[in-house]
Amino acid sequence: MKFFELSENEIMNIEVIDGQHKTFVKQINELYELLGQDKPETIKYLLNQFTKEVKVHFETEENFMKKYSYESYYSHKLEHDRFLNKFLEFTEEVASGKENLNLEKLKSAKTWFFNHFELNDKKLGVYLKEKNIK
Ligand SMILES: [Fe+2]
Ligand SMILES: [Fe+2]
Repeated sequence: MKFFELSENEIMNIEVIDGQHKTFVKQINELYELLGQDKPETIKYLLNQFTKEVKVHFETEENFMKKYSYESYYSHKLEHDRFLNKFLEFTEEVASGKENLNLEKLKSAKTWFFNHFELNDKKLGVYLKEKNIK
């Protein structure tokens, strides 16, 4: 069994967003596979890729929210910003050798995803479906 897997519950039926969520999961799983391995350059590379993709993903959702005047835009964006800032900080700490890739961090990313999905993305998905977004 994979460290991180999505179920039917986490599918929004909005192609671009579902695809980005799958990438998020895939990248966390790749980082999980590297735990305890002496591959600092690969770890740094994957952490950078992950934060880049996360940024793109958050912007995608935020652009949808702005375009369709979604009323919870600010609270949803705040959750994105908090996650991204923390993860960027962590990525920099790993790059400078102050911190190591660790299970706790990957678990917290997974937990964040599920909570965020349940409380924020799911509602956005319903809203966008009403607007006929596929
Ligand atoms: Fe979101
Ligand atoms: Fe999302």
